Amino acid sequence: MEQKYLIRTFGCQMNEHDSERIGGLLLSDGMSPTNDAADARVIVLNTCAIRENADNKLYGNLGHLKPLKDRRPDLKIVVAGCLAQKDQGLIQRKAPWVDVVIGTHALPNLLELLRRAEIEGPQMDVREYTETFPSALPAARADDVRAWVSVAVGCDNACTFCIVPLVRGPQRSRSIGEILAEVQDLASRGVTEVTLLGQNVNTYGRDLTVPGSARRPLFARLLREVDGVTGIRRIRFTSPHPHDFTSDVIDAMAGCEHVCEHIHFPLQSGSDRVLRAMRRSYRRERYLEWLARIRSAIPGVAVSTDIIVGFPGETERDFEDTLDVVGRATFDSAYTFQYSPRPGTRAATMEDQVPKDVVQERFDRLLTLQERVSLERNRAQVGRTFEVLVEGEGKRDGSTQARTRTNRIVHLAAPLQRGTFADVRVTAASAHHLTGEVVSVQEALVV
Ligand code: 5AD
Ligand code: SF4
Repeated sequence: MEQKYLIRTFGCQMNEHDSERIGGLLLSDGMSPTNDAADARVIVLNTCAIRENADNKLYGNLGHLKPLKDRRPDLKIVVAGCLAQKDQGLIQRKAPWVDVVIGTHALPNLLELLRRAEIEGPQMDVREYTETFPSALPAARADDVRAWVSVAVGCDNACTFCIVPLVRGPQRSRSIGEILAEVQDLASRGVTEVTLLGQNVNTYGRDLTVPGSARRPLFARLLREVDGVTGIRRIRFTSPHPHDFTSDVIDAMAGCEHVCEHIHFPLQSGSDRVLRAMRRSYRRERYLEWLARIRSAIPGVAVSTDIIVGFPGETERDFEDTLDVVGRATFDSAYTFQYSPRPGTRAATMEDQVPKDVVQERFDRLLTLQERVSLERNRAQVGRTFEVLVEGEGKRDGSTQARTRTNRIVHLAAPLQRGTFADVRVTAASAHHLTGEVVSVQEALVV
């Protein structure tokens, strides 16, 4: 009987992409995917350490899997990802029924660890470094039109709230040649949109030694090269750090036909005092200046951001500074987070942790303001025509969900095939999506 695997992912895009790699490895071993835990021979929980509820979710899931494992000892349970890297021993202590704990650098060894677990019992591999870049592994991609491409892993910054440098290590970039080969291969399979992934994409290449440009970021060059790949019509990337955002990247964004007019530009806080405590090296006015430069160089660009509310020591005054920047920056959308202490980070041991009810109250105010701004920004699109890429079926029968280059979701009443490019006129707007009508269908790809 064919053996099945199930992967549950709790985390960011980087994790989603790692899950595609894990799926690729299991497929290459002759297994096939299932959504039903009862059918699965291998269950992988791919975890994220950035936000606290990921550990609650992990232990909740492991608790639910215990009776299944008791009934079927041949079931193999794998915990992968950042939490596995960080909480290695703890996972094995709290959930001794886990068969494999595999860190972010050890993915290439998954099949071997599964085989060893069969014979020797629980395995753990949380090495600090691997020679094999995760993207060198086969991938079971979730989407045949859009794809993630990992360009660098790890991060050289030390934002005091963030666990990433601890679990993913220093930045390591992939060579431009390897990235291009992957993008070309994707294009030859019909993928038209790629998202370049890195913790801090605009320092991409700083760790590579290229004759003549040692220790200089190569992200602008990478954008230009990917822009030249035939068949790729949309290029996105995430995330840049405002500190390293250089004008050559703005120029490349403006000059490359296929680089989308959207930038994710994490603010984190609008208070200079808090930014300093976070070890984010830009300040509010500089951030706003950069935003103005980006907007003047790239007409119509949409900007999204990340904001943390309730960082230790954040006062009402600091928070009002954040509201002020949010009001002035007019972000198209924002991911807002309540600060959560990650053990091992500098901020986790800072004094003046902000009480939960205060964080909640500030968070609600921020959300109300941003919803109003997002709605205004979306309403300004009504009556205009945009190119969209159809991503799939909508919620209602015969409807379609599509996306503009500026990363706005558009609901359409027409049933269009995934992968189709169409021009649509926007007829209505809400804070989180637009509604549109099809003006013309550019091309219907057979996918
Ligand atoms: N608490 C809350 N939010 C966090 N983020 C990262 N670490 C934390 C934390 N400890 C948010 C940041 C980052 C995004 C991916 O997650 O805003 O940009
Ligand atoms: Fe974390 Fe800061 Fe690196 Fe982003 S730049 S991954 S927030 S340390």
